[in-house]
Amino acid sequence: MKTESWQQCIIPSCGKKYSVKERRTACDCGELLDVKYRGDYPKSLQETFSERRNHGPNIFDESGVWRYRELINFVGVETENYDFYSKKLVSLDGAEGRTKPVHLTRVAEYVGIKTGNFWLQFEGDNPTGSFKDNGMATAFTHAKMVGAKKVVCASTGNTSSSAAAFAANELDMEAVIFVGAGKIAKGKLAQTLAYGAKVLQVKGDFDVAMAMVKALSEKSGIYVVNSLNPFRLEGQKSMMYRVLDYLSWEVPDWIVLPGGNLGNTSAFGKAFMELYDYGWIKKKPRIAVVVAEGAPTLYDLYNERNLRWNNGDIDNEIIEEYYSEIDRKGVKASTKATAIEILKPVNLKKALRTLEYTGGAVTKVPDEDILDAMAMVSSNGFGCEPASAATVAGIKKLVEQGEIGTDEVVVGILTGHMLKDFKAIVDYHFNPKNRFANTPLTVEPDINEVLDLIEK
Ligand code: F0G
Repeated sequence: MKTESWQQCIIPSCGKKYSVKERRTACDCGELLDVKYRGDYPKSLQETFSERRNHGPNIFDESGVWRYRELINFVGVETENYDFYSKKLVSLDGAEGRTKPVHLTRVAEYVGIKTGNFWLQFEGDNPTGSFKDNGMATAFTHAKMVGAKKVVCASTGNTSSSAAAFAANELDMEAVIFVGAGKIAKGKLAQTLAYGAKVLQVKGDFDVAMAMVKALSEKSGIYVVNSLNPFRLEGQKSMMYRVLDYLSWEVPDWIVLPGGNLGNTSAFGKAFMELYDYGWIKKKPRIAVVVAEGAPTLYDLYNERNLRWNNGDIDNEIIEEYYSEIDRKGVKASTKATAIEILKPVNLKKALRTLEYTGGAVTKVPDEDILDAMAMVSSNGFGCEPASAATVAGIKKLVEQGEIGTDEVVVGILTGHMLKDFKAIVDYHFNPKNRFANTPLTVEPDINEVLDLIEK
């Protein structure tokens, strides 16, 4: 199947187009870019995708990203010609994106939705333990396509782990990582170092590191794998393809996810816009973004200052005023959900588009609720890191507020693995004051004492 693709400014009044062969992180006008496609998308592809789940030895059918290659074909591969596409597409041996929505009874009860209507998708089950692998598969494919040998990103730890792993797995590719010194969870730092990336610890937080990456790319043209790279977001759309694929293409009422740099929010919205245009879905799910109270930019701008996409005619003054207020007051993001400790999300405008397109919602939750939700997820035998648990805390809040109806179908995306930030979990459970703490008991090596204790 042949597709035509190009990059295009997201702001309709500009709409400038660029070749997919260009490496860019922005339009000449400074705004974000989309990857656009023209092609034929028959609904019969749904069956093809489903059949590819029985992948046999084909790692590109096994991959939960490349299984949907017709919908993200910016390379222009012949999608049924293995010899052709296997030379072009980058994959961690088919391991990325092998996730699907699952039911968790206790969490469903906790948030107040019927088990049968409530799904969580554990993106922590990706090879490097977060959803980022979905996007790195496509970002690295594009990097390879344009001949890049070095990639760079700023990170709160998961982007860096994923970028480092993909670089390590490719011959002839190097990753340079900027992190805020002391700002990333140890599990993530460990991965990034172990995969052999060059790690630069910046004295500052994620927002400072991100600004440095932007400046560096403008100066040197180095290939950026943060989510302002539109090709990375193409891979992240596959999370929504899997939701729909496993729900037999029945569109849920809500998709709920945590918001940091707002790449997922942007990618998910784009996935639904395209599927709607192709006539594959008749309704759009509402997308709810959950931010931490200590990193509330989207909440403040959307709910309190009424910032809207407005068909691309965004009131930039509202954003500029907000950011200059933050800078003036020296406000810094601060949350135990370190993955989303971000005050200046690079994909803000695309996220506004998603919210408008899907009739979405934004909520914010305190760290206490995030950590309780994290413990609750684990009580079902699954697990996630704090930022991911914001999803569950947010669903609970939206149900309590009557925004999400108790009989609606809800899919929550849990973005990262529980062992990414094991310290957050240990700290939680060692403090018996926490609502769901499972504090260990200290015992003498005395069998009678032990018997007493375990029979209690
Ligand atoms: N959840 C986790 C576990 C993350 O690592 C991130 C982002 C998000 C949610 C937010 O996603 O940016 O698409 O809104 N982590 C980035 C990183 C910033 O560097 O690892 P988003």
